[in-house]
Amino acid sequence: MRVSIVGSGYVGTTIAACFADLGHEVINIDIDEDIVETINSGAPTIHEDGLPELVAEHAGQGGTGRLRATTEYDAILDTDATFLSLPTPQNDDGSIDLSSMEAGAVQLGKTLEAADDWHTIVVKSTVVPGSTEDVITPILEEESRKTAGDDFGVGMNPEFLREGTAVQDFLNPDKIVLGADDDRALADMHDVFQPLISKTKAPVVETDTRTAEMIKYANNSFLAAKVSLINDIGNICKEHGIDAYEVADAIGLDDRISERFLRSGLGWGGSCFGKDVAAITAAAQEREYNPAMLRATVEVNDRQPNRLLSFMDAHVDVSGERVAVLGLAFKPGTDDVRDSRAIPVIEGLQERGANVVAYDPVAAENMQEHFPGINYASSASAALGSAVAALVVTDWEEITEIEEEFDTMATPVVIDGRRAIDRRDGIVYEGLTW
Ligand code: UGA
Repeated sequence: MRVSIVGSGYVGTTIAACFADLGHEVINIDIDEDIVETINSGAPTIHEDGLPELVAEHAGQGGTGRLRATTEYDAILDTDATFLSLPTPQNDDGSIDLSSMEAGAVQLGKTLEAADDWHTIVVKSTVVPGSTEDVITPILEEESRKTAGDDFGVGMNPEFLREGTAVQDFLNPDKIVLGADDDRALADMHDVFQPLISKTKAPVVETDTRTAEMIKYANNSFLAAKVSLINDIGNICKEHGIDAYEVADAIGLDDRISERFLRSGLGWGGSCFGKDVAAITAAAQEREYNPAMLRATVEVNDRQPNRLLSFMDAHVDVSGERVAVLGLAFKPGTDDVRDSRAIPVIEGLQERGANVVAYDPVAAENMQEHFPGINYASSASAALGSAVAALVVTDWEEITEIEEEFDTMATPVVIDGRRAIDRRDGIVYEGLTW
């Protein structure tokens, strides 16, 4: 099949390369000429495991030629289906900002006006229920002067890709959700995913666009709430001197609970959980429903960095002293610092007048935009030397392997937010929930 993807961020680039790998002819459209040029030279512009190999194989010189990028929307006319994968950021009140999606839909609609044949547009970005039907489809109809369902199809296909493992998650899905309000659009979406469905036997959920949109929010809300619930329980465990990880291991044996997403500690960050929980909460409140569990999910998450800092306060006064922050990325395996728990941790240290020295294997540069004034060390050991406390924020493997480097600290106080470090003699160790 011939597939176009509008947008080449984390999701757009990953699905473009993966669709090419499944055998489709793929065109990735982006307004940024540098991104387009980079992809056409055979390299991705984002850091994602396995992606450089796929982009090189399908867009690079001597490759299959199945992936190419362009700035021209007209390119969609050479394809059968277009996935709209543009950013959906947050407004100040937490609600979703659809302006990029709307601008993309205007361009797509104008282009569709010249289409001789049927074409299916699929919303890939995370959008609140009703966005496809009530916002995107009317724009497409108005700009193309055509009718959805008669002249072109509209669908919604949420993504469940984790940053860092997006390629693996795409190629091994636990489900494929296809939302459409007409049969032809649904059939086109099926055709796009057929090679993956045949290969993986992943269950396919067929539904309408509103339900597909909600499934994405429900998925992320549930996962965020699960982490917040184990953090709430973990905080109680800590107060009782109980190891929350031992408790989690036991309850995880109940297959109604499962052992996944039961790692308690500093809580969740990243570009999705906070934004999605806020957006679906705002969408509910607009309809005068107050989602109590989702509000508590955020409240518990907000609490964890302060608990980490208060454990530190109980051992050492950091005012005017050097404090090492180990890990800045919102999770290991990515350079993404969006909503990272390191941000409130560093803010708390600054409020206390500490001299912050941060280390992360790949995310320091991105954190410099948030905190240009703190020190960034080139290694964990460089960060730890003469520090009065070390706060463990991200459980990168190399951070879990730190041992004797703690002995170079002025006072070896280690406050672990991710159960990354083993408790041992010679260090003052506090785990957040154990
Ligand atoms: C998440 C979802 O897992 C994906 O399915 C979804 O597609 C994606 O959001 C999205 O909406 O785009 P991601 O944000 O990349 O993916 O990261 P996760 O691996 O889910 O981790 C999220 C946060 O939860 C991290 O900060 C992680 O450290 C934290 N976490 C996760 C815990 O604190 N404990 C756990 O047991 C698991």
